[in-house]
Formats: sequence, structure tokens, C-alpha cells
Amino acid sequence: RIQMNYKIAVIPGDGIGPDIIKEAQRVLEKIGEVYGHTFEYSELLAGGAALDAEGIPLPQKTIDECKNSDSVLLGAVGGPKWDHLDGKMRPEQALLGLRSGLGLFANLRPAVLFNELKAACPLKDEIIGDDGLDIMCVRELTGGIYFGKRGTDGSKAFDTLEYSEEEVKRIAKQAFEIAMKRDKKVTSVDKANILDTSRLWRKVVEEVAKDYPEVTYEHMYVDNAAMQLVRYPKQFDVILTGNMFGDILSDEASMITGSIGMLPSASLGEGKVGMYEPIHGSAPDIAGQNIANPIATILSTAMMLRYSFSLEKEADAIENAVKSVLAKGYRTKDIVGTGEQSVGTNEMGDLIVQE
Ligand code: NAI
Ligand code: MG
Repeated sequence: RIQMNYKIAVIPGDGIGPDIIKEAQRVLEKIGEVYGHTFEYSELLAGGAALDAEGIPLPQKTIDECKNSDSVLLGAVGGPKWDHLDGKMRPEQALLGLRSGLGLFANLRPAVLFNELKAACPLKDEIIGDDGLDIMCVRELTGGIYFGKRGTDGSKAFDTLEYSEEEVKRIAKQAFEIAMKRDKKVTSVDKANILDTSRLWRKVVEEVAKDYPEVTYEHMYVDNAAMQLVRYPKQFDVILTGNMFGDILSDEASMITGSIGMLPSASLGEGKVGMYEPIHGSAPDIAGQNIANPIATILSTAMMLRYSFSLEKEADAIENAVKSVLAKGYRTKDIVGTGEQSVGTNEMGDLIVQE
């Protein structure tokens, strides 16, 4: 039976967070109306907003409510007002706390270049062709060198890279599951010519791949992958990789699409709760001015519908609405061409809702 009522924890956060979250919620409301779902929101504090109201970046109530929801929609946190704070009091602690609190080990970052925005792509036209670009980076988020043993004695320092079979297995499964919903190709990126963790990684990926005979997969060294991303990005569908390689490659892949205001993300775990947010920050320079691009956040809601709720049609509807609004020539300030008219945050939200 298909669930019709979804409980969403909404964290607008700081800067443009509230502006873009508002538009994303309007799009969700429209989806509910058209497809007969109800979305129930609980609005929560995190980041600077939580520091101002309660003196800590991530109140317990926020974590508890998120755990009790079907998914989390987040704007962005941070800004100059809180830059003097350090360590555990920084607004970004809210993100780390939510990721670990919800056990979100898989970070999904699609790099999608809509054909309508080809001008924003720094690569040559002949590399991209006429049908844009659509790559999904699946990055392991809670293991690897960022979480290994570390130390320093002043003149020497070390960070260790460790992965267990179990950690590799769950992220690999995630990548193959996602590939099944896409073009059914996984490129697993590692450095197996040098690293023991990468050889373990390959072994586990091969095991997992046996359960997905429809998916073709390949292994690629990370240095080659960095090169292939700019040489011929169309060869990629799903890129599966560890924490640090994924950090670097997903930034590289997203810049191929040229526009930070367009790109969504999802963080998933073993549990039912996923967290969805734009990849950009709180953009304090443009907060409250009705010029921020809400599309990254709106596309994050599409990911929520697809990956947390399995509402495939509804997710497609949002993505198609974004595409048609762009095809009709509407642009927010960050993606407008020189001499062209731009629309504001609210207008862009309106247009997508109508579409
Ligand atoms: P940023 O992504 O907020 O902004 C970079 C540039 O892109 C700015 O010029 C901004 O105006 C523009 N921009 C970003 N999103 C946009 C949108 N939707 N529409 C139009 N233009 C957009 O990164 P920045 O400036 O490095 O960081 C600002 C604050 O955000 C900092 O406090 C930082 O710590 C925080 N941050 C939070 C993140 C999160 O909550 N996940 C991620 C990255 C940064
Ligand atoms: Mg990064």
C-alpha cells in the first residue's frame, strides 16, 4: 500500500535558507494537491538561527523531531554573524550532528546540466552535445580518512584511511540501487594500484555487483576519473567512491554544470530518514532580497520524493516543470545571460508551481 501522508522536518536555517525553502514547500504543496498526498511539516531550528534562539547550533529537539520524521529538508546554515564562534559552537556543527545523528553514510550529488543552460558549462559544446549531462556521484560520507585515527607531534602528523567490508558494502549497494533507477551503469573510483583499502573496496564492489546483473560496472583509478570527467563526462552514469575522493570529484562534476544555484543533494542512511538540501551555502550576500535561485532546493524535494518516498512520477513532475520553465527562457539572476531579464525567487517558485 502506498503511504499518502508524509511527515517532513523542515530546517530553513540561515541567509537565503528561508527564502528558498518557502518556494520548495510551495512546490511540494502543489504535488500533494495534484497527486493526492499530504505533507505535514515541522519547522525546526539549526545553525545560526538555533544559536540566536537557544545558544547552541543543534538543539536536541531538532534531532529528535528529525528522527521522528519521514525525511528532512534543509536550506543552509551559517553566515558572518556567527563567524567569530569556534569549535562546537559553529553553525556547521549542526550539519555534522545531523549526518551522524541520522547515520547518513551516503551522499548523493547529481551533476545535471540542463540543455537550456549549456552556456553555463565551461566545457566545449562538442563535448556536451545536445542532450545536456546527468551524472550521479555517490560518496561515502561517514568513513575513510576523514574519520580515521589522526595525530601530530609538531614536526610530524598523520591521518589514517580505513574502510571495513561492511562500510563499503552498504555504500556500494546504495550506488547499484540508484543505478537501477537510472542508466544502469556504475563506475567505482579508487586507487587500487596503491591502496589496500581500495583493493578491499574493489573486492566488495564485485560481490555487490553480482546482485545487480542488469547494471554494468567498471573500476577506475581516481586520477584517471578526474581527467575523464572533463575529457568525456558523458561516459559516466553513477560514480561510486569513498569519502575524500568523492569530496573532490563531486565538486569537479558539479562545476561542469556551471551553476551552484541549480544543484540538489541527498544524504541517505540505513534508516528511513534521508536529508535533502541544495549544495550551496546560505549566500548571506543575497539573503532576503528575492534574488536567490530556489531551483537547487526545489530539485532536492524531487530527490526526496524519489529516494525517500519512492514517488517516481511526482519526482519526474518536478524535474520536468523545472526544465520547461527554463526552456521558456525564465532565469534567476545567477543563471541569466548578459542583457537578459531575470525573475526573482518568488516568481521562479510561481512558474514552477504553475508548470
Ligand atoms: P555560498 O554557496 O553560500 O555562496 C557562494 C556564492 O554563490 C555567493 O556569491 C552566493 O551569493 C552564490 N549563491 C549561492 N547559492 C545561491 C543561490 N541559490 N542563488 C544564487 N546565488 C547563490 O558559499 P559561501 O559564500 O562560501 O558561504 C556562505 C555561508 O554558507 C558560510 O557561512 C558557509 O559556512 C555556509 N555554507 C553552508 C553550507 C550548508 O549549509 N550546507 C554549505 C556551504 C557553505
Ligand atoms: Mg567539498
